[in-house]
Amino acid sequence: MRATHQRLYINVDHVATLRQARRTDEPDPVMAAELCERAGADGITAHLREDRRHIQDDDVRRLAATVRTVLNLEMALTEEMLGIALSLQPFQVTFVPERREEITTEGGLDVARDPQALRDGISRLKRAGIRSSLFIAPDSEAVSRSRDLGADAIELHTGQYAHAAHEARTIDALRDAARMASEAGLAVHAGHGLTVRNVAPVAAVPEIEELNIGHSIVSRALFVGIEKAVQEMREAMRAARR
Ligand code: PXP
Repeated sequence: MRATHQRLYINVDHVATLRQARRTDEPDPVMAAELCERAGADGITAHLREDRRHIQDDDVRRLAATVRTVLNLEMALTEEMLGIALSLQPFQVTFVPERREEITTEGGLDVARDPQALRDGISRLKRAGIRSSLFIAPDSEAVSRSRDLGADAIELHTGQYAHAAHEARTIDALRDAARMASEAGLAVHAGHGLTVRNVAPVAAVPEIEELNIGHSIVSRALFVGIEKAVQEMREAMRAARR
């Protein structure tokens, strides 16, 4: 099963990281989102962290109002975040683990820890017509638990692969988890640490229908502009799938 068009969602968090370094009003992640869409992004992703270190509440409100493609809101499973999602009605919520001391989202969700809370969160979103995705490590246990929890999709954490792409086991784990999830009826997404140099093997996994990419595109945008940075990634993905 090979989705004909693999979606590219751009995570604009780090545009906000740069703005928050000075707490001014530039650069604006909402303007970045619009340029990404113009350059061919299929969706916009933003992570509203509990500590508000990059994306702010006002950013997600403005993104929800202006994104023309779709908004994928990444968030921890908390009552506060669920309230925000239910009021803003993004197309999709991706539940991610959050630890205050981490630099970025380091591991996948522990889907075994509080299954009832996850199940409730997913069903509240579903009743509101919001799709839910769980950011998990590429392992069979996490995949089957995600299916049992009623999620629409999983996002496979590609961090291990990005750190050791030369080790075959890292891409093999992604391939196996993607196949298993797809057979279980879950939509398969992937992301974290992907760059134009390492994206090809992941983009070539037939079951992976969506990639969420942020840091490398925002970094590249400093030198070539965000539209070109998005187009370069698009092209790398397209070439890998040919
Ligand atoms: N997907 C999820 C669930 C994430 O938490 C992140 C990082 O915020 C990404 C994708 C994007 O990772 P990166 O910024 O390394 O491309």
